Amino acid sequence: MESIKLDYSKVLSFVGEKEISAQQEKAIKALKSLKNGTCKGSDFLGWLDLPVQITENELERISSCTDRLREQTDVVVIIGIGGSYLGAKAVIEAMSGSFDVYSGTRVVFAGNNVSEDYLYELQAFLKDKKFGICVISKSGTTTEPAVAFRLLKDQLIEQEGVAVSRERIVAITDEKKGALRAMADKEEYETFVIPDNVGGRYSVLTPVGLLPVALAGLDIRSLVKGAVDMWSCMKESDAKLAVTYASVRNALYEKGYVIEITVNFNPKLHYVAEWWKQLYGESEGKESKGIFPASVDFTTDLHSMGQYIQEGRRNLFETVLSIEKTKYRVQVPCDAHDLDKLNYLAGKRVDEVNKMAELGTQLAHVEGGVPNMRVIIPELTEYYLGQLFYFYEMACAISGGILGVNAFDQPGVEAYKNNMFMLLGKPGYEKRS
Ligand code: PA5
Repeated sequence: MESIKLDYSKVLSFVGEKEISAQQEKAIKALKSLKNGTCKGSDFLGWLDLPVQITENELERISSCTDRLREQTDVVVIIGIGGSYLGAKAVIEAMSGSFDVYSGTRVVFAGNNVSEDYLYELQAFLKDKKFGICVISKSGTTTEPAVAFRLLKDQLIEQEGVAVSRERIVAITDEKKGALRAMADKEEYETFVIPDNVGGRYSVLTPVGLLPVALAGLDIRSLVKGAVDMWSCMKESDAKLAVTYASVRNALYEKGYVIEITVNFNPKLHYVAEWWKQLYGESEGKESKGIFPASVDFTTDLHSMGQYIQEGRRNLFETVLSIEKTKYRVQVPCDAHDLDKLNYLAGKRVDEVNKMAELGTQLAHVEGGVPNMRVIIPELTEYYLGQLFYFYEMACAISGGILGVNAFDQPGVEAYKNNMFMLLGKPGYEKRS
């Protein structure tokens, strides 16, 4: 199998090899401290060898649980937020057909917002449907999923009774701690464990990502195989791919390029970029430091954000997720009258038009002062997504090390929660100003 590649030739007119090498030295140190467990946040390094620690037993248990749920239900609601949601959402959006008519079990998401309208509409949609719930929360106490779970659990009990609802609920949470663990034990839900030493945003290769992906009928073994192959490649090459990406982006950051835009030319990658934004934003944005992670979907956003990127403030760089081979072939037809003047494209594949849009955009943006890197993905498959996830996780941890931050905590996330709890009158939060 091929591997994903990195092409950073189009940043070299903005930062020299020397500046990149200087960052490379720091990256290698950061890698060493990850490997010997002396980095900041070293309690959370369980993701490092996760790909090769996933056992056939665990995959089997996930498959039999999802087979059972798929038999019993038409819809399964995946409840979770942040790292307990985005990895699965990314794979499912990338690998499902854009216009699939659901004949089997459909997967929908909840608990990633507290919109009353969203929950009302979801409850209306689930009324009289055979549905199940997969509730995911490592801490077991996060407000958004907890609210959604309380509502949907009550609805399930009302529609199906207590005994059936117990069979239709699966919980993914900590082995021992948290409210969700306590509930799951009391109600005897089937449960899967998020390892203690794997943080939410690094958990896509645990049941957090694998179970929803399997529920959606996708190939989790290929996803894991991709991650295993990237893990081996990192081991054999001293994580060259990740070290290079981390070094290039930090060399750019040092020169004032403080925003990284992850770009795709395939809307199926929208949520891969959302997953990446969470990984990098939550890992690096602290101590008044960090590259701001943003994303765009091209060519759609070339007709909106494209203007800013071409001519706005020159503090951004782009990383394009470039897919080499499409799954299907569609050619532009010839038209006898050619009133739309498109016959110059007749016989060409739509992907050729897309690829030329990608190249044309790269040249224009580089010319306009935007450094450009490409992560080249041979094909959009579960296998290459597995490679991509592990590559990005490794590079993120190294990049956090270069910056000198703890890439595995998220202290800043507490600020809004504390205010919200105080405003809502949660016991213990009354005295906060
Ligand atoms: O990366 C993280 O740790 C966070 O984004 C969490 O995944 C998110 O806050 C959800 O937390 P939990 O799974 O505890 O509900």
